[in-house]
Amino acid sequence: MAINWFPGHMNRARNQIEEAMPDIDLVVEVLDSRLPYSSTNPLVDELRVGKPCIKVLNKADLSDPKITKLWIEHFEKQDNTHALALVAEDHKQSQKLIQLIKNIVNQSEDKKTNIRVMIMGIPNVGKSTLINSLAGRYIANTGDEPAVTKRQQMIDLKNGVVLSDTPGILWPKFENFHSGYRLATSGAIKNTAMEYEDVAMYALEYLSKAYPEALMTRYKLEVLPESGESLLDMVARKRGCIRSGGKVDLHKAGEIVLHDFRSGKIGLLSLETPEMMVAEEIIAEEL
Ligand code: G4P
Repeated sequence: MAINWFPGHMNRARNQIEEAMPDIDLVVEVLDSRLPYSSTNPLVDELRVGKPCIKVLNKADLSDPKITKLWIEHFEKQDNTHALALVAEDHKQSQKLIQLIKNIVNQSEDKKTNIRVMIMGIPNVGKSTLINSLAGRYIANTGDEPAVTKRQQMIDLKNGVVLSDTPGILWPKFENFHSGYRLATSGAIKNTAMEYEDVAMYALEYLSKAYPEALMTRYKLEVLPESGESLLDMVARKRGCIRSGGKVDLHKAGEIVLHDFRSGKIGLLSLETPEMMVAEEIIAEEL
């Protein structure tokens, strides 16, 4: 699924969310737990106009549990914000989200019969998977087409919670240089202008510092060179990615590395920590 975000799409998505928001009791923002900063859009906090929010750190089966815990602590310090790590397709885990939604909303004074929830997030973080898991059935995924105007409907979960199916789809943000690479590494940007090699080199360079042992074990490397290019070259040779004529096929090696990362074969890995984000934001402000 590739989405090209144009100003028209962005405005329409934003307007749809703004129109639906007065009827919403709580916002669930789905994030990729491997990159909670880069997979968010700061507009969520503006559009929810003070309504409670649960940040769902999805794909917890792929992220580093220690870092995911730090992110939960980080989000829970924010105003009217709660956080929960889960694996969306696991029905048992998604039921924990229902429980949390009920706990939060039932504490507020204007208790309603049905709690109305909007699920928001950038593409590919697992919104549809979560909706299907919560509903216990397949709900047609119309949300991936931000240009399509649709009638607002509610999905009744028959447990006191209804979901707005207004597409709470927001675009990823790319202001931070690293975010684009992290999103591409995670697979959130399919039709990326970035080359596989480039993205894989970025990922390898980061992983060699953050998870050196996991990387060495996966690719049977005895040493880890500093640069992403040398690392990718090494992986290519180890994996026999050699073209006829003996030239190293970095593109193929890049595909292997990114596929391994996305499927968790290198290990449970996170691409960013709350501490890294603070440092990156300070650098961005200084520029
Ligand atoms: P979206 O609506 O936010 O765009 O995301 P969607 O549910 O379509 O999920 C995107 C991909 O992420 C899907 O993979 C889905 O199976 C996977 N996914 C969702 N939740 C989880 C999770 O908790 N753990 C893991 N490991 N994967 C999850 P896909 O169908 O293979 O699509 P793609 O990756 O080929 O795009």
